[in-house]
Amino acid sequence: MRSDVTLRQLDEDLLQALLDVAVADADPHEVMPPVAGPAGWTAERRTAFSRFHQSRSLAAEPVETTYAIVVGDTVVGAARLCPLEGAKHAVEAGVWIGRSHRGSGVGGAVFSHLLTLARADGFDSLFLSTKPDNMASQRLLSAMGVDLVHEGDAVTAWVDLVAAG
Ligand SMILES: CC(C)(COP(=O)(O)OP(=O)(O)OC[C@H]1O[C@@H](n2cnc3c(N)ncnc32)[C@H](O)[C@@H]1OP(=O)(O)O)[C@@H](O)C(=O)NCCC(=O)NCCS
Repeated sequence: MRSDVTLRQLDEDLLQALLDVAVADADPHEVMPPVAGPAGWTAERRTAFSRFHQSRSLAAEPVETTYAIVVGDTVVGAARLCPLEGAKHAVEAGVWIGRSHRGSGVGGAVFSHLLTLARADGFDSLFLSTKPDNMASQRLLSAMGVDLVHEGDAVTAWVDLVAAG
């Protein structure tokens, strides 16, 4: 596993770096909820990206924890852990990595860090959802030894953090 990949909990400085990476190296639909309007990184989408993270991760009572993915000293993407409502001790994970850093083992290292962080936070299970055409995500999950469940337009997986620990 790559040893140069770290996760740093998001703050306002890292959020600015994250926005820069998203704009330069990712498509909006890969990194944020849909925003109406013309395609691409419009001013509205840039503002929505920052507000999304400020409201969810940097608020007084955050609903999820977001991490900047750092390779060496460079921010290359984001990972998040969001406690699942109605599922005791369960957390949902999400990841995006800038295009120019995909396919070189960063994702594998990020998932490994997320499992460690979720376990340290006391969660028993970790949920992931992806699309059927997202082969990189599915390979990462398969490599972790979890069963993938194909349900319509989604592929989901539960990682047992107690058994996996
Ligand atoms: C999905 C994502 C996080 C994977 O991270 P990554 O750093 O690209 O993945 P890795 O380089 O660690 O590769 C993981 C596995 O997928 C394989 N893989 C990578 N890119 C692939 C591709 N385009 N097609 C098929 N397999 C691919 C790798 O070979 C590796 O498998 P292996 O260990 O069996 O060799 C990253 O591609 C990404 O951010 N994509 C855009 C956003 C996204 O889809 N997020 C996930 C939503 S759940």
